[in-house]
Amino acid sequence: MADILKPEHPAASLAAPARTRGGIVVLDFGGQYTQLIARRIRELGVYSVILPCWTPLEEVEALEPAGVILSGGPASVYEPDAPLCDAKVLEAGKPVLGICYGLQWIAQQLGGKVERAERREYGPAELNVEEGSKLFEGLPPRLRIWNSHGDHIAALPPGFRAVGMTANAIAAAEDPARRIYAVQFHPEVRHTDRGTDLLRNFVFGVCGAEANWTPRAFAEKTVEEIRARVGEEGRAVCGLSGGVDSAVAATLVHRAIGNRLTCVFVNNGLLRRGEFWRTLEGLRETLGLKVVGVDATERFLEPLGGVTDPEEKRRRIGEVFIRVFEEEARKLGRVEFLVQGTLYPDVIESVSVRGPSATIKTHHNVGGLPEDLEFELIEPLRELFKDEVRRLGAELGLPAEILHRQPFPGPGLAVRVLGEVTLERLEALRVADEIVEQEVRRAGLYEKLWQAFAVLLPVRTVGVMGDQRSYGYVVALRAVESEDGMTADWARLPAELLERIAVRIVNEVAGVNRVVYDVSSKPPSTIEWE
Ligand code: XMP
Repeated sequence: MADILKPEHPAASLAAPARTRGGIVVLDFGGQYTQLIARRIRELGVYSVILPCWTPLEEVEALEPAGVILSGGPASVYEPDAPLCDAKVLEAGKPVLGICYGLQWIAQQLGGKVERAERREYGPAELNVEEGSKLFEGLPPRLRIWNSHGDHIAALPPGFRAVGMTANAIAAAEDPARRIYAVQFHPEVRHTDRGTDLLRNFVFGVCGAEANWTPRAFAEKTVEEIRARVGEEGRAVCGLSGGVDSAVAATLVHRAIGNRLTCVFVNNGLLRRGEFWRTLEGLRETLGLKVVGVDATERFLEPLGGVTDPEEKRRRIGEVFIRVFEEEARKLGRVEFLVQGTLYPDVIESVSVRGPSATIKTHHNVGGLPEDLEFELIEPLRELFKDEVRRLGAELGLPAEILHRQPFPGPGLAVRVLGEVTLERLEALRVADEIVEQEVRRAGLYEKLWQAFAVLLPVRTVGVMGDQRSYGYVVALRAVESEDGMTADWARLPAELLERIAVRIVNEVAGVNRVVYDVSSKPPSTIEWE
C-alpha cells in the first residue's frame, strides 16, 4: 500500500498557498470517501486540498493550513506496508482530525493499540456521545452514524479520552490539549447524522479556519493567475465541448486575456443530434467567445472502424482530437497554451490515488493526451468539483441552458454505442438519445437527474412486431442521480415515463425491438457503460 501512493500524486501540484492559507489539508490514505471530505469542507466555504498521506510536514506547513484531516483508507495499520503519514504532523501543534484509518493511525502512532475487531462494523450504527467535546458541540447525545471498518481501538493513547461509543467500539476520541481529534465513523457521508456539523465544529471551532472559499474569490484569483501566466502577448486555444466545464474554463481565460483566446469547437461526429450547430451559435452569441467550428467527423470515425475495446476507442478519439487542435492552432500562428476544462474528479480518477492498477477509465482530457503535446496546459478548473463549476459559471453569468446541461463524455456517443461505432449505429443511438432527453424534460426531471441517456447494445433479441418475428437490437436506458459523478444511484423513474420512452424508441428507432432499464449504482458499476 505504501509504495503505490506515488510521488506524482495528481493533487500534489494543485495546492496554491494563497488559497490553503487558513484552509484545511486532507492527507489521503487512499480512502473511498477522501474526496467527499474535501467537498464537505468546501461546502462550508473553506478551501480544502487533498495531498498524499506521505507528504512531508514541511510541505503541509508551507500551505499554512488551519488544520489537517487524515482520511480513511483500505489498509490495516498493523500490516507491514501500511501507508504512513509524516509522524511530525502530530507534533506540529496544528489541529488534526483523524477519520477511520486516520484515527487508527493516530492511535497506533501515539502509543495506543489497534486490533482487528471481532465484529466488523459496516453501515449504520448508533453513537452515544460523551459531554464536553468541542467536536460534538451543539449535537444531540445520540447520533446515527455510518461505519466502514474492520479494525478498532483496543487501547487509547495516553492523554486521550473516548468521547463517543458505539455498541462495539470506541467511535470518537480526543486529546484537546494537543488539539488532536479522531472518529472511527465517516462524518463526510450523508448517512451520518449531523456529519457536516461535526466537520464544522472541527473546521471553525477547533481550527479557526476562514470561510473565504467563494466562487467570486476563486474567479478573481484564477483570472489574475492566468493573466500572469500567459503574459501580455501569449495566446491560448481552448477546446469547447458544448458542456459546462469547457465553457466555464474558456470564460475564465477570456476574462483574463480577451480575444487572445480562440476557442475551437470540433464536431467529432460523436455528438448528439443537431448539437454541433446549435452549440456553436450559442457559444458565440451568449458567451461572446471567439469560436472556430471544425467539422472533423470523418477523421474521427475512420480510425474507429473495427474497434470494439472501450479504452482503445477513447485513446484513438483523444489522439485525433488533439491533432485537430494542433492544426487549428497552427493556423492561428503562434499559440502556446491549451485550455481544458479538466475537473478535480477527472484528475483523481485518471491517476488514481490507489495506484496505476486502479485506473478505471482513461478520461480523454487527462490520461489519454499524446506525449508529444505541443502546448502548455491551462486547466483552471483542476481543483473544482462539478457543482462548484456550476456555481462559478453562475457567478460568471453563464446562461442556465449551459449551466444545467447534463454532463456528456468527451468521447461522446462512441462510448454509448457498444461494440463497433458505425455511422448507422450512431444515427440509431442519436434518435434514441433525443427521445430520452425530450421525455425526461417533458417529465420535468432533466435538472434533477445527473444524467439520463440511451446506450445501444450489440445484442440482438427476438421480438414480434405486427405478427412478424423480429430480431433487433437492444437499447439500454441509464438514468442516475449523483452529486459529482463519483458515486451514483440509479434513478427511480416513474413507470409511465419508462414506458413512454420504451414505446417511442421501439417505434421510432429502426432495428431496435427491446428496451431495458439499468438498475445498477456506482460503485460497483460506472455511469457510462464503457
Ligand atoms: P463513469 O462512467 O466513469 O463516468 O462513472 C463519470 C462521469 O464522467 C463522464 N465521463 C467522461 N467525461 N471524458 C469526459 O469528459 C470522458 O472520457 C468521460 N467518461 C465518462 C460520464 O458521463 C459521467 O458523468
